[in-house]
Amino acid sequence: MATHLIELSPVDMQRRLSDALSIYVDAMHYPRGTEEQRASMWVEHTRRHGWKAVAAVQTSDEPGEDPTEAPMVGIAYGYCGAPDQWWQQQVVAGLRRSGADAAHITALMTSYFELTELHILPPAQGRGLGEALIRQLLAGRGEDHVLLSTPEINGEANRAWRLYRRLGFSDVIRGYHFSGDPRAFAILGRALPL
Ligand SMILES: CC(C)(COP(=O)(O)OP(=O)(O)OC[C@H]1O[C@@H](n2cnc3c(N)ncnc32)[C@H](O)[C@@H]1OP(=O)(O)O)[C@@H](O)C(=O)NCCC(=O)NCCS
Repeated sequence: MATHLIELSPVDMQRRLSDALSIYVDAMHYPRGTEEQRASMWVEHTRRHGWKAVAAVQTSDEPGEDPTEAPMVGIAYGYCGAPDQWWQQQVVAGLRRSGADAAHITALMTSYFELTELHILPPAQGRGLGEALIRQLLAGRGEDHVLLSTPEINGEANRAWRLYRRLGFSDVIRGYHFSGDPRAFAILGRALPL
């Protein structure tokens, strides 16, 4: 068994959607059934400008094996941010509330890749796969920045936070509440290329 990273086309993502969503639910410890709520949004995201997805798959390296059908242990995707997207509107509202000036907001929002999802199946975590996925996802991007949101955790004490800090992500907004979600999130970002 070997672990490989493969780029998924929109068609691959739609075919492997239940595997990708199941990794997301297991990694985030969300209740079963969350998959169904997210499925149509993940498909809609595949149509956004600049969408890119990378999966970590476990292959047996048999001749003729199709890696796009191999068991999936990690998934990451994102796309180009745009003003008509709910996430950008939320982040802009948060930046304004935090007192950021218009020039700073424009500089951040004009050209960025939104790293929307990054998840590794729990038994495969802690081996560097998350970092490998993020690096492949961001390789060759033309945007000026990458932005992401991640739940706030006391002391930044989880693998996601350690990974983002190690890769040089810094604070854009802290303790932010997206409308309709009681949890606090951090918006983090860094310049590209990584
Ligand atoms: C966040 C997440 C994607 C990170 O992926 P990961 O593969 O677990 O983590 P990394 O790629 O950072 O792996 C680094 C760890 O692997 C270890 N490692 C082993 N071999 C390694 C290698 N060749 N290269 C890098 N790290 C290696 C490191 O020591 C490090 O261990 P530590 O985290 O205990 O300090 C993953 O843990 C996850 O899915 N978490 C739950 C969901 C989540 O929080 N998603 C993000 C929401 S925004």
